[in-house]
Amino acid sequence: AVERTLSILKPDATRRNLTGKINAKFEDAGLRIVAQKRVQLTTAEAEGFYAVHRERPFFGSLVEFMTSGPVVVQVLEGEGAVLKNREVMGATNPANAAEGTIRKEFAESIEANSVHGSDSAENAAIEIAYFFAQTEIVA
Ligand code: CMP
Repeated sequence: AVERTLSILKPDATRRNLTGKINAKFEDAGLRIVAQKRVQLTTAEAEGFYAVHRERPFFGSLVEFMTSGPVVVQVLEGEGAVLKNREVMGATNPANAAEGTIRKEFAESIEANSVHGSDSAENAAIEIAYFFAQTEIVA
């Protein structure tokens, strides 16, 4: 089924001017960017987005990293978009990411791992609504 997923190009990616190279990987995989904006997250916005990780030891560092520079938030659309995006991103830890994936090619560390993608269709709907109004998504 055609799905949508929420994608974030993280501060390590924008800092190194990699947004085009990463977007090309999504598009080459058949994902369509149906919404996109570059934003500077506030601490409150980053904390809210990653609220599920609040108790994890890396939470404070993650919020600091995600607010350290601009991010690009996107909605990707396509057949099986949630899983397809996760395949294109590769494993969370770049040390475990397969050849050809975004994280293998570009990630600096398990934290500065260049991209975020929703982990389920259910979370995708929540994460998309966190950043986008329906009118901002143009299929
Ligand atoms: P993301 O897919 O955005 O979801 C949570 C983020 O926390 C993850 O990518 C990494 O950027 C960051 N992170 C830092 N350390 C860890 C860790 N040990 N395990 C999982 N995620 C981590």
